[in-house]
Amino acid sequence: MAEHFSDILMANLSVGVLVLDDKLCVQYANASAERFFEQSRNQLMGHAIHKLFVQSSLETQRLRDALQNHLDFSDGEVQLTFVDGRHLLAEVTVTSLVHQNHPCLLVEFKQIDNLRRISQENQLWAQQQAARDLVRGLAHEIKNPLGGLRGAAQLLERQLDDPEQKEFTGLIIEQADRLRNLVDRLLGPNKPPNLQWHNVHKVLEKILTLLSLDCGNNIEFVRDYDPSIPDLYIDDEKIQQAVLNIARNAVQAMEGRGRIRFITRVERQVTIHGKRHPLCAQIKIIDNGPGIPDRLKDTLFYPMVTGKKDGTGLGLSIAQQLVDHHRGKIEVESWPGHTEFTLFLPIDKKEAKQ
Ligand SMILES: Nc1ncnc2c1ncn2[C@@H]1O[C@H](COP(=O)(O)OP(=O)(O)O)[C@@H](O)[C@H]1O
Ligand SMILES: [Mg+2]
Repeated sequence: MAEHFSDILMANLSVGVLVLDDKLCVQYANASAERFFEQSRNQLMGHAIHKLFVQSSLETQRLRDALQNHLDFSDGEVQLTFVDGRHLLAEVTVTSLVHQNHPCLLVEFKQIDNLRRISQENQLWAQQQAARDLVRGLAHEIKNPLGGLRGAAQLLERQLDDPEQKEFTGLIIEQADRLRNLVDRLLGPNKPPNLQWHNVHKVLEKILTLLSLDCGNNIEFVRDYDPSIPDLYIDDEKIQQAVLNIARNAVQAMEGRGRIRFITRVERQVTIHGKRHPLCAQIKIIDNGPGIPDRLKDTLFYPMVTGKKDGTGLGLSIAQQLVDHHRGKIEVESWPGHTEFTLFLPIDKKEAKQ
């Protein structure tokens, strides 16, 4: 009776449960695990855990440590890509057990639901905004004295006769200009958007023309447009800048060879920073490059975060600011071989704006 009841419990648990043997092969899977992996118990049985994924942030070494040294753990944000291309975020808890004198692992999988993602998203967004404000504030503080410094060097230059001394004042002016340039870029876009009705595909076509001028023939651009998207009330130049910043990163990441897909869709009931929009346009920019380095993932949209030797780290921060001006949002998913940026822009009713 007791055994029977525990079977019923296991079959009805909402978390996926696997038991792995000392070779990290599946010995048991409950019904939720079958749904999670989209494989039957028979298919799962005997499979080495790492063979169930093409890519996972759950390291085999961590599982071995758990097995051998009883280092149980729980990881709230495990990225998993399955053999069939599915990609999801899961909470994984690993507990070491001994059953009939054999060490084994109890592994629980729980897919992270949308709600959790949204709240994380809001928190992240608030942090990114705070970082941006900090950098902007600092940039402002630098800008004023810098103007004074440059002006003083100019005055001094006029008083000097010796060309050798003039070289020094020239140097001050040149370096001040360089700093000013940087500070201006840190301050980001400051003009309010000039909103008009635009066809999003026209904006994308312009970007594609610019991009194909930039790069050779070894990058293939694929268009997958939904022609039913109504006109959007946007500043076309700003959206163009945002998409270009994202697409140029893709081109750079692929080092001149690969495929970039531009996909447009209409999405219903999208929550953006706590507000629900009945209708949104989605613009996806997907590349098959190496993926975003793990160490950058958490701070990707912060200003001055870059993975490049000569990068400024401003491209994505500016793209996000521009999309924020349109009450939209940017989402990213990335693993080796696939990087997907999605822009969400609310679709307004034309009557409401006239
Ligand atoms: N499509 C992509 N593939 C791989 N890495 C990317 C991609 N897009 C952005 N990145 C990473 O994010 C970093 C930040 O990008 P960005 O803010 O535009 O600054 P920058 O291009 O000046 O480095 C890049 O340096 C790169 O490491
Ligand atoms: Mg960039």
